[in-house]
Amino acid sequence: MHILSVVGARPQFIKLAPFSREARRRGHQETLLHTGQHYDEGMSDRFFRELNLPAPAINLGVGSGSHATMTARALEGIAAEIEARQPSLVVVFGDTNSTLAGALAAAKLHVPVAHVEAGLRSFNRAMPEEVNRVLVDHCSDLLLAPNTTAMHNLATEGLAARAVQVGDIMVDALYTVRETAPAASEVLTELGVPSGPFSLLTIHRASNTDDPASLSAILAALVGAGTVVFPVHPRTRAALAAHQLELPANVTPVEPQGYAQLVALAGAADTVITDSGGLQKEAYLLETPCITLREETEWTETVELGWNALTGADTARITAVLQAPPRGATHPSIYGDGAAAAAILDAIDARFA
Ligand code: UD1
Repeated sequence: MHILSVVGARPQFIKLAPFSREARRRGHQETLLHTGQHYDEGMSDRFFRELNLPAPAINLGVGSGSHATMTARALEGIAAEIEARQPSLVVVFGDTNSTLAGALAAAKLHVPVAHVEAGLRSFNRAMPEEVNRVLVDHCSDLLLAPNTTAMHNLATEGLAARAVQVGDIMVDALYTVRETAPAASEVLTELGVPSGPFSLLTIHRASNTDDPASLSAILAALVGAGTVVFPVHPRTRAALAAHQLELPANVTPVEPQGYAQLVALAGAADTVITDSGGLQKEAYLLETPCITLREETEWTETVELGWNALTGADTARITAVLQAPPRGATHPSIYGDGAAAAAILDAIDARFA
């Protein structure tokens, strides 16, 4: 089968790696299309190199812009490539503007679409990713859901017949990278951070970066939090400068990290403090308490099991949780056993081969 895999943003490169490896192992022809939504060395190129991904056959170079501009450019470029290359299946990952553009381009050209990480919902339509998820699931032919919550969400929207539960491909990626990840102490030394207890902080959600009040409320809560290592997303770096916000002295800003380095840090940290979707789950898998700087999460099981606390961008709530980080009494393997890529390809082969 000729598969066109569409990616564009950092978390998709990570999800692509196990998928791509398994697809090629089974003898499928894969064409890799990078929309160019993320384009920096640290946000993109490094991931292709370190995850041993083949260089993309196509890079659309859509770059930054409004959601409309970015999605429209990607839609136009992907449609042209589908027409030129005639794949038998388009595969999209996650919930970014690149995911939406890929699914929509294929659906309009009557090429089947499979969505990896289908069925996640925050039920907050103000989140750009939530709009993308809903639209992508409704125009895809095969919905590859990571867990029972996602299956339930899809059934509620009348999409059960197209859904298959396959486990979470981020678990495959995490298990693979852990085999060769550096020690956290090595990563800290390289970053110039003295070894000892620390928290890992990431912030990039539009709801936190675009509102100076939210961003400064988060920073205020971190003042007494001990050593905090903060890989700064380009969006956040720009927001800090635009709002003229200073980081507390105990918060050390560092460049965006590679996947192996981030996993090493998340595993060794006392707490992960984040508004990322993927990192909440990685914290759970690594048994690190997580503080989520949002009012809702797609990964509700991590909260129900007591490993994740939702604090929003609220100084008092963040401070309170930092005093007693969430550590669940049990740690069941709710995201599968790291064999999602094989289950995804089984479902694809059964449906389309
Ligand atoms: C996007 C995804 C989000 C995902 C995140 C991971 C959407 C709507 N959002 O958010 O779901 O969790 O990626 O990072 O698709 N920039 C650079 N260099 C880069 C990439 C971005 O400098 O390589 C800057 C640009 O100024 C850009 C800003 O970062 O405007 C934000 O990038 P963008 O892709 O719009 O959204 P993210 O916040 O990264």
